[in-house]
Amino acid sequence: MKSILVWDLPLRLFHWLFAASFVGAWLTAESDEWLSLHTFLGYLMLGLIAFRLVWGLAGSRYARFSSFLYGPRAGLDYLRQTLSGTAKRHLGHNPAGSQAIFLLLGLGLLVGLSGLFVQGGEEQRGAAAGVIGYALGKAIKEGHEVLAELMLLVVFAHLAGVALESWLHRENLPRAMVNGRKEAEPDAPAVRSHTLVAVLLLLAVAAFTAWWFQYRGSETGVAFIGKKLPESALWQEECGSCHQAFHPSLLPARSWKSLLAQQDRHFGDDLGLDAATLAQLLAFAEPNAAEQGETEAAWKINRSVPANATPLRITETPYWIKKHHEIAAADWNKATVKSKANCPACHLDAEAGGYEDAAIRIPG
Ligand code: HEC
Ligand code: HEC
Repeated sequence: MKSILVWDLPLRLFHWLFAASFVGAWLTAESDEWLSLHTFLGYLMLGLIAFRLVWGLAGSRYARFSSFLYGPRAGLDYLRQTLSGTAKRHLGHNPAGSQAIFLLLGLGLLVGLSGLFVQGGEEQRGAAAGVIGYALGKAIKEGHEVLAELMLLVVFAHLAGVALESWLHRENLPRAMVNGRKEAEPDAPAVRSHTLVAVLLLLAVAAFTAWWFQYRGSETGVAFIGKKLPESALWQEECGSCHQAFHPSLLPARSWKSLLAQQDRHFGDDLGLDAATLAQLLAFAEPNAAEQGETEAAWKINRSVPANATPLRITETPYWIKKHHEIAAADWNKATVKSKANCPACHLDAEAGGYEDAAIRIPG
């Protein structure tokens, strides 16, 4: 027997970075405080998986998928042989281990992609910003969490398998994933190290890390892309002359109904709208009201209003009050603000109806 290189350098680098990004993302999943780091690790994981897919076709012998393409049946047979102590040693991945690898790559991909949509829907940030609404993002989050838990289970199964194999064949498999070497028959061919590819992979990870934290660090670098909400020219025209046209997503449908029914007593004004115009306005407001949960504001405003209440002011909904009670009187009294209903004074995306975190600026 002689010691030969079995795992090339890019494969080992991938392995440990992939493991670290999963553990890191798991540890930063709970709190909003860690959200930036959590999403960074998610994108990193997706990038690493993309690399692994290429390397599974173009890598050295034992890195290639074709060298460990076993079905679940072969995996089970191998497990059975392992338990009866008759399993044959494999220089590359064994049939049971390969199942864990494909599962981890597949689950990693699903966890990463679903996370992208959670971020896009809930925060209107990242690669999927503007694609889906808040309510859908929140629903996808449930799936994102279940997938991550499944992935954790497979990680534990993988660790148990490595421990069992190491013991059974009296070899240190974790160490082999560090130095890449295993004991082999004298005629077994070693693989190339592919150092250049590993260096390029490391550089790509380093560049992405630097870009992410530099970009996030500078406030001006934060691009804001919210979901585009439905618009109506008539609504703009009839409701946008005295104040900004509040987007229908800011109040429940019953509020718009009631507000329009009282249009002749509109906060001291008579809007003087005829029945046909009112019907058209309502036909826009009702299907786009807060109940749709297209933005975080819509979803939270709707949840905060008791079922038996029909607020006529956005500024009287519990969620609005909760979000603004800490703003100083001096800020409300500024010439550029004046009224609580002057949302665009502080919300850059008020006209579009988004009210995303990244678009809030109290005027100086
Ligand atoms: C003739 C002027 C005028 C027009 C036109 C008008 N409004 Fe108003 N609206 C007001 C005034 C005045 C207030 C009270 C503003 C304040 O308290 O600062 C108000 C307040 C509101 C508020 C409550 C804002 C808050 O405090 O949360 C809503 C909602 C609203 N209007 C919706 C509409 C809709 C919908 C239309 C179109 C059908 C409309 N307005 C058209 C004058 C108008
Ligand atoms: C004087 C400036 C100012 C005005 C005017 C103002 N807001 Fe805000 N708003 C803020 C600030 C600051 C926050 C952030 C509060 C926090 O997160 O603690 C905020 C938060 C919010 C949020 C929650 C955003 C989030 O995701 O955390 C919503 C929704 C919102 N405002 C809606 C409105 C609407 C609708 C109006 C007009 C009816 C309005 N605001 C008027 C300053 C303002």
